Amino acid sequence: MTTTPAWAVHRLPAVDEPHVEALADVLIDCVEGGASVSFMHPLTRDRAVAFWRRVARGVATDERVLLVAEDEQGVCGTVQLILDLPENQPHRADVVKMLVHRRARRRGLGASLMRAVEAEARVCGRTLLVLDAVTGGDGARLYERLGWVRVGDVPRFALMPHGGPCGTTFYYRDLRIGNPTHAVRSRIGPVLSPKRSAGTPMHSSIDT
Ligand SMILES: CC(C)(COP(=O)(O)OP(=O)(O)OC[C@H]1O[C@@H](n2cnc3c(N)ncnc32)[C@H](O)[C@@H]1OP(=O)(O)O)[C@@H](O)C(=O)NCCC(=O)NCCS
Repeated sequence: MTTTPAWAVHRLPAVDEPHVEALADVLIDCVEGGASVSFMHPLTRDRAVAFWRRVARGVATDERVLLVAEDEQGVCGTVQLILDLPENQPHRADVVKMLVHRRARRRGLGASLMRAVEAEARVCGRTLLVLDAVTGGDGARLYERLGWVRVGDVPRFALMPHGGPCGTTFYYRDLRIGNPTHAVRSRIGPVLSPKRSAGTPMHSSIDT
């Protein structure tokens, strides 16, 4: 059955002010929804905008890769790769700030963003990815479903945005080893082509 694409995932080669504002909306929505993503509730627009302006500077200096998902209402999801790591880790990147607006969740966008960021890491020559997630949370379930390897948990690592401690689980993914997402590809849509020009749509899907 053919489905109509609901979103497109792009790499942003530069982050302009409208994108900063739209990304701030997504971040504020996630924190309001109780996601532990570095910020406490209430997250003011000023703090959210300041965060994305720092990200924009990192994108401008090639220290970060920023992917965004956009649907008919605008930016609905995002994820980043941090490339600026010590010189003895040129093969590695950190995956951070995986955020899907509440209006776009549970339709496979999180899985699409993860596949997109893994493809982008390969394009950047990175073969080892690391991330962390709230233990037992929505993100952790997503990463485990996609075949990320669980390293271990750190209790009381951070605070939830409305208060109270939460544990963090660390994961890695060795991109040289097969593709664990292969098994779920039929459920979460086609794999991205790594050969594309910056700023062009990488993937769109709703069948997920
Ligand atoms: C974690 C997060 C990114 C997941 O995004 P998402 O777009 O909802 O992810 P997916 O849709 O790929 O998968 C989420 C769930 O929907 C299910 N799903 C996917 N497509 C579906 C569909 N078409 N119909 C019904 N369910 C579907 C998945 O099986 C999964 O189920 P599970 O949580 O019970 O395992 C999102 O919840 C989020 O942004 N949370 C707040 C920020 C955060 O915690 N980020 C992670 C930081 S580590």
